[in-house]
Amino acid sequence: MNGDSLQECVLKQIGKYEAVDSNVLAAALEVDHQAIVGAIKSIQCFGDVIKVEPRNNKKWCVTDEGKLVIKNGSYEYNIYQAVPTEGILQSELLQKVSNAKIGFSKAMSNKMIKVDKKCEGGARVFRNQEDLKDETWSNLVALQNGNVGQVGEKVLAELKKRKLAQEVVNKSFFVEKGEAFTLKLEKPETDLTAQMIQDGSWKTKTFKEYNYNALGAPPAAGHLHPLMKVRSAYRQIFLEMGFTEMPTNSFVESSFWNFDALFQPQQHPARDAHDTFFINDPAISTKFPQEYLERVKTVHSKGGFGSQGYRYDWKIDEAQKNVLRTHTTAVSARMLYNLAQQKEFKPVKYFSIDRVFRNETLDATHLAEFQQVEGVVADRSVTLGDLMGVLHEFFRKLGVHQLRFKPAYNPYTEPSMEVFGYHSGLKKWVEIGNSGVFRPEMLRPMGLPEDVNVIAWGLSLERPTMIKLGIDNIRDLVGHKVDLQMVYDSPICQMDF
Ligand code: PHE
Repeated sequence: MNGDSLQECVLKQIGKYEAVDSNVLAAALEVDHQAIVGAIKSIQCFGDVIKVEPRNNKKWCVTDEGKLVIKNGSYEYNIYQAVPTEGILQSELLQKVSNAKIGFSKAMSNKMIKVDKKCEGGARVFRNQEDLKDETWSNLVALQNGNVGQVGEKVLAELKKRKLAQEVVNKSFFVEKGEAFTLKLEKPETDLTAQMIQDGSWKTKTFKEYNYNALGAPPAAGHLHPLMKVRSAYRQIFLEMGFTEMPTNSFVESSFWNFDALFQPQQHPARDAHDTFFINDPAISTKFPQEYLERVKTVHSKGGFGSQGYRYDWKIDEAQKNVLRTHTTAVSARMLYNLAQQKEFKPVKYFSIDRVFRNETLDATHLAEFQQVEGVVADRSVTLGDLMGVLHEFFRKLGVHQLRFKPAYNPYTEPSMEVFGYHSGLKKWVEIGNSGVFRPEMLRPMGLPEDVNVIAWGLSLERPTMIKLGIDNIRDLVGHKVDLQMVYDSPICQMDF
């Protein structure tokens, strides 16, 4: 190639032929076809120098076994030739040539030979026809010489079945001169530099065209944790349904707002250190709306608003204890109290999604904290039916179309219902939330009008996220063992149960 690059040699050839297949180029330049393909591709980067069209050529080739047949003759013909005019004992014949068994049965089925079983001394083989030629051999030779047209379809199929020949797909490129055909490649400029403008060389230079299809370098952007993606999906649903987000920025609550305001008695096991994290410093809160606090105390200890209460000695000390909030329903309680202080009652729809803390035994699906999703609707005369309707709508937007409700118990709701959704992926009912109608013992001390009812529900953010991502250990989703790749790879959230 006398010092020219392969690209230039290829260009010279194309210049000679006008249009040529890459296989012909490979043969003419005596280089590997793959190298020619590489050269063609790199020439294409220089613009319209050549026109290239991919081709799929199917070609019949003789296999290694087929090549042996070309060298030694076909098995059936060797058998045929080994049969003398006077015939030969079958057992003797089978010893005389290699691959005798295949050859024998082929020669029989081609009626080249015949067997007389009644002969003295055993079965004898005779030629069936005289002056036969080795057709298998000549067909294979024809294929090897590229004269596939001389070989019939049927024969090709048989040679393929006998693994003597095979059809191979050869990918090549048909190359023609392009509009900017040249024998000398000049790398187009990729940048217009200040230098080129100053010395005027930009006028004569060729510039590389913009490739609008090129994928840009992936930006080194941050990635949202899957929980945050699922969070924004929930948030979007609440916003679509006209809900307003509650301020959940304070993780520490007094027991008063976390429990007492919710008509949760002071002896309730959830208020034990086994279930709740108590704060040491500051251990207590002291500022409460005093009149409201008195009404809460009364409803717990004596009853009221048609309720007989719990009838125990309600203590301010217990209500003052600071805790890490065990549910965002503490925030709902504050919000409903604020609502009740408005001059005129206006219906509201509130939601929140934030962290809550429980002193749980840690296991594969539980940590001591989780994110709670909470929805609250306050309006005159809302009913359990409204709650079921809102839940249907809420979960429908999440892609859960079948719901079931199971009676449950919460100190602050009556009736209370656990919510189950049919997960079509897991093909089973999974518990997806807790809900209820807030009790008068909770709402009336706040000062809400008698005909105002409040329906509410809560669920964890982690559970549907784990189901969605097929994660069965919470530690793969939250904490230091999280695989960052999982965070990078997890798709934009579309809840699809
Ligand atoms: N606070 C409840 C929980 O922690 C959820 C809930 C909210 C239930 C509102 C009923 C009404 O599970």
